[in-house]
Amino acid sequence: MKLVHNMDVNRVDFKEINEYGFVKIASNSKNVIDEINEYSKYVNSNFENFVVVGIGGSSLGPKAVHTALNNQYYNEISGNTKIYFLENIDPDTFEELFEVINIEKTLFNVITKSGGTSETMAKFMILKARLGNLAKTNIVCTTDRENGNLIKIAKEEGYKTFFIPADVGGRFSELTPVGLLPAAISGIDIEKLILGAKSCLDDNLEEAKEYALIMKEAIEKGKNTLVFMPYSDKLSLLGDWFVQLWAESLGKKVDNEGNVINYGQLPHKSVGAIDQHSQVQLFAEGPNDKIFTFLEVKNFKNQVKIPKIYDEVRGISFLGGHTLNELISAEKFATDYALKKENRDTLTIEINEINEEVIGKLIMFFELATVFLGELVNIDPFNQPGVEEGKNATYALFGKEGYEYKLEELKDQCGDKLWNGK
Ligand code: PA5
Repeated sequence: MKLVHNMDVNRVDFKEINEYGFVKIASNSKNVIDEINEYSKYVNSNFENFVVVGIGGSSLGPKAVHTALNNQYYNEISGNTKIYFLENIDPDTFEELFEVINIEKTLFNVITKSGGTSETMAKFMILKARLGNLAKTNIVCTTDRENGNLIKIAKEEGYKTFFIPADVGGRFSELTPVGLLPAAISGIDIEKLILGAKSCLDDNLEEAKEYALIMKEAIEKGKNTLVFMPYSDKLSLLGDWFVQLWAESLGKKVDNEGNVINYGQLPHKSVGAIDQHSQVQLFAEGPNDKIFTFLEVKNFKNQVKIPKIYDEVRGISFLGGHTLNELISAEKFATDYALKKENRDTLTIEINEINEEVIGKLIMFFELATVFLGELVNIDPFNQPGVEEGKNATYALFGKEGYEYKLEELKDQCGDKLWNGK
């Protein structure tokens, strides 16, 4: 992995990182890896389907890693336990899953760090009721060892449980059992994922600092959007994972001293070459308020040749004899060039190939860059106070105990426009 750019960076000293929970994972996961690998064998021989039930950091990472490392038609071709994700609370997508799975032959992995997220717990409650007597064998939990409602229920009802370390928050938890269990079940080498994360600490720490410094300066220059643009379908959902990490960690109203700063940068996912036909017009000629991070894969697993036919059709004959690999690489180069020509700031993360180690490395790289930028601008990247207001208002509308005051506030604010149960 290599960070390529032509921007000047003024180096600064950063705090020690070894105390961060997500960093410690890189060196203390041996036991958990062994336990997960063992359990995965049991799952593969006993269940037809494995469903990840989580949201936010408890779903985006597992999805990103699955997409990056498994065949896109995994469920159709692997012959292993099939993998599904039940992320949203959209009643239609929820029910559609039950049209394709046999619930009795399905293991549901309920993942929630807090053990109380409404969306996840609502889905858990539905599953528990539908499973009836099978709940004990067909639910596995991933949650905090001590805190939250899920661990209490899991203990009482005897669910197999994996633990998320107390000092690792949701969006930093992909390399804990949150991501490792779903990955191992689909045959991904989770030891290599962790090795990749560790190699990032050894080899790419300075680049993660550099990335944070570049983004700090970019934000100061008014680059309020960070376009995360992999030229790879396999890395598309890594973009979604990154969006949550960057947005929720760095979008903050106050700094560590309580000063109002309304800090942040909008992370936006775009996929090359697809979005050249959708967004690049805006990127090149619209407001110059963006900085671009391209992810370029140097070696794809496959090499696809374009046949040398239609020699007489001048508009397309130039394609013949090349490969799709050359085409996507040239298009990335050309788009980067075109954006630079319009004075847009771009940088590229080059990766040799997509494999477990590289994915582990990229995850650690962006987590580090996020906390480094938090440190540079004196904000707490690990909290998310801005999502509490909406959560509390939902609790009040649903009549959760202790939120009566919020319901009164809502009534005052909304009058007869208050949500009325539909
Ligand atoms: O990063 C975070 O803490 C959040 O985005 C969480 O991942 C998300 O809210 C889900 O939380 P939980 O894992 O507690 O259900």
